[in-house]
Amino acid sequence: MTTARVRTFHARRGRLGPELNDALDDLLPRYAVAVQSPGDPSDLFDPPLPVVLEIGFGMGDATLAMARLEPDRGILAVDVHTRGIASLARALDSEGLTNVRVAHGDAVTLVEALPESSLAGIRAWFPDPWPKARHHKRRLVQPVTVALLASRLQQGGTLHFATDWPEYGEQMLEVVSAHSSLVLPGTGFTPRPEWRPVTRYEKAGLTAGRPVVDLIATRA
Ligand SMILES: C[S@@+](CC[C@H](N)C(=O)[O-])C[C@H]1O[C@@H](n2cnc3c(N)ncnc32)[C@H](O)[C@@H]1O
Repeated sequence: MTTARVRTFHARRGRLGPELNDALDDLLPRYAVAVQSPGDPSDLFDPPLPVVLEIGFGMGDATLAMARLEPDRGILAVDVHTRGIASLARALDSEGLTNVRVAHGDAVTLVEALPESSLAGIRAWFPDPWPKARHHKRRLVQPVTVALLASRLQQGGTLHFATDWPEYGEQMLEVVSAHSSLVLPGTGFTPRPEWRPVTRYEKAGLTAGRPVVDLIATRA
């Protein structure tokens, strides 16, 4: 399935310093997956594991927590943020975690290149809110991308969004509810699952007094 191109980010490069540069050169290749040709997720791990895609992992704190918590799942983590990529590669190496693969680039490009019905779950926690109305077109959660994400989920797989921007939460609810093969619980939103690690952005939102909502839909 090909979707209209949705540009959800503006790439930025900063200076990384020698340690993170070394992590990119020496460690990342062990975990790296090509955004434009990721292959079938079931081939990423040996033995094969059900694979969950994490979109926009930031500095990778939640990725690492999930990898420790769910050793019987593979995590395919994608972000455009070079510092976060390098930092995650370094942490995976130092903790000896083997159930994570890392894609450096645009999540939409990666998802388009994945086979249909190939993922056990997709998690996008605190995607960029793009609060200004003129930037809303860059938001990840909109009908064309949610349709793409849904097509890559296996039957029974879950699509999990979280946000601390109430108006984006409403948009998530509206877009997901409108998709014919995504099923939400009767309440729409889900109480915050205890197992979901607190992310860096969530902490910042909570400190600023913003309430967090979780939305978990199942692919019918
Ligand atoms: C607001 S931060 C949230 C990070 C993390 N999930 C957390 O809760 O701490 C959003 C992240 O999504 C990434 N991002 C934005 N658009 C993206 C895209 N199209 N593909 C991959 N990552 C993207 C950004 O680089 C950033 O790290």
